[in-house]
Amino acid sequence: MIRLDKFLCDTVGVTRKQAGYLLKEKRVTVDGEIVKTGATKIAEDADVEFDGVSLRLSGPRYYMMNKPEGYVCSHDDPHNPTVFILIDEVGAEKLHIAGRLDCDTTGLLLLTDDGQWSHRVTSPKHKCDKTYRVWLDDAISEETEGLFAEGLMLRGEKQETLPAQMVKVDEKEALLTIHEGKYHQVKRMFAAVGNRVVGLHRESVGELVLDEELEPGEYRPLTEEEIALFLPKKAS
Ligand code: URA
Repeated sequence: MIRLDKFLCDTVGVTRKQAGYLLKEKRVTVDGEIVKTGATKIAEDADVEFDGVSLRLSGPRYYMMNKPEGYVCSHDDPHNPTVFILIDEVGAEKLHIAGRLDCDTTGLLLLTDDGQWSHRVTSPKHKCDKTYRVWLDDAISEETEGLFAEGLMLRGEKQETLPAQMVKVDEKEALLTIHEGKYHQVKRMFAAVGNRVVGLHRESVGELVLDEELEPGEYRPLTEEEIALFLPKKAS
């Protein structure tokens, strides 16, 4: 159990005196009820909201977002809105992205403040699969699947791409699974076989699949099971 005013200091970053004012102004609820007394003891996992925004102690946080088109994966950008403005959480600026997507790419985006976890998601050593739905300008040629499966040399790279699996869905649509994350990799792979990506959507990372309930721009915390997908397996 922890005092509510102390909890506010730790999560919102205010002084104890300021926490008292916030409580008096009825801006804080615990499990849906307005609470005005700082000395109230709450459970560490209590559902506390400040101005309607959920607060959590600064333990590691993990979210999946359905990234919308036109948002950049960085903390600030002179031209486009960033995905972080979609995150309505205290301390959103402390989160980082585990595996960025291009501004025009949509789909599964992972955000966390746990550097070790994101390293496991993105590090080439862990060869985490990423599956993309890809829409192309031209019909997919006969050779594409084989060329991707063999690995091909992208302009400016010293090593061929790792074998990638492509499943044709339609004349101009495919599912592509890659096991690394080179810069603009999917677009460059299709460019290397003479085609052009006109739409790109990430459906899964490893065994983690984008939640179909999430509309573009929506996000939710990962479940314990989802977080554990990227942690070393416990010996049973
Ligand atoms: N490959 C790309 O070309 N763009 C992305 O956003 C992700 C993978």
